[in-house]
Amino acid sequence: MGRGNTSSTMTTERTHDPRNPRNARTADPSFDAIKQSHALSGDAGRLDDFYRNWADSYDADVYNQGYQGPQFITELAVDAAHALESPPSTLSVLDAGCGTGLVGVELARRGFSRIDGIDLSQAMVDRARDTGSYERLIGGVDLNCPVDCVPADAYDLLVCCGVFTVGHVEAEALDHLLDTVRPGGVLVISTRHSYLRGSRFTEHVAGTAEDGQITLVASDDNGPYIDEEGATYWVLRKDG
Ligand SMILES: C[S@@+](CC[C@H](N)C(=O)[O-])C[C@H]1O[C@@H](n2cnc3c(N)ncnc32)[C@H](O)[C@@H]1O
Repeated sequence: MGRGNTSSTMTTERTHDPRNPRNARTADPSFDAIKQSHALSGDAGRLDDFYRNWADSYDADVYNQGYQGPQFITELAVDAAHALESPPSTLSVLDAGCGTGLVGVELARRGFSRIDGIDLSQAMVDRARDTGSYERLIGGVDLNCPVDCVPADAYDLLVCCGVFTVGHVEAEALDHLLDTVRPGGVLVISTRHSYLRGSRFTEHVAGTAEDGQITLVASDDNGPYIDEEGATYWVLRKDG
């Protein structure tokens, strides 16, 4: 991957700057929906209900809040494809927590064509299917539990955007994602800043690297995410 175990600055096209306070829009229903999703305490039943009700307006709501995760994480996926010395179209990709398919659409636009998606919410997955960007989509998959609906060690690349966020998944979900990726494959993951502050994700990455299971290829603490706050983006290589 060529970046070593160091933090790096990664850039992408930007339509919003989430760190610009003028972009903070805090008094509209789309902002309320995002906030409510953070209060679900990782309860799979409540998360599923919540996203079933949000699926129809999710894309418009996150757009209104300047969501840039899908675009940014896709640029990192393109970098990962270069590092793997493979054209995007040849790589098998798992979009974990694919939601309505915003990431799949961006990946397809950048030449990825072998994309599968999994998510807790069947309603969100149904929207993702409408994008036509995915080969295989599976709903009802709780990333807080081992993922047994896809083969182990299967994917060249895993992307996970907007899922390591408050009230959604534990840091240990990383272990379940790791199981799906082949040795030498790459994971690209966003962690919203408020999630990172309140979770053990950073420590979990460090511990997993110490165990020899992954190499931290790069992390960017200043990635664009949503108007309200940014995110850290992680690029991890599965070892062993
Ligand atoms: C904020 S959305 C992000 C969706 C998509 N990746 C994007 O960037 O637009 C969070 C997604 O995570 C899913 N999710 C929440 N908790 C989950 C869990 N425990 N296991 C799997 N998916 C979960 C939700 O159903 C939802 O689709």
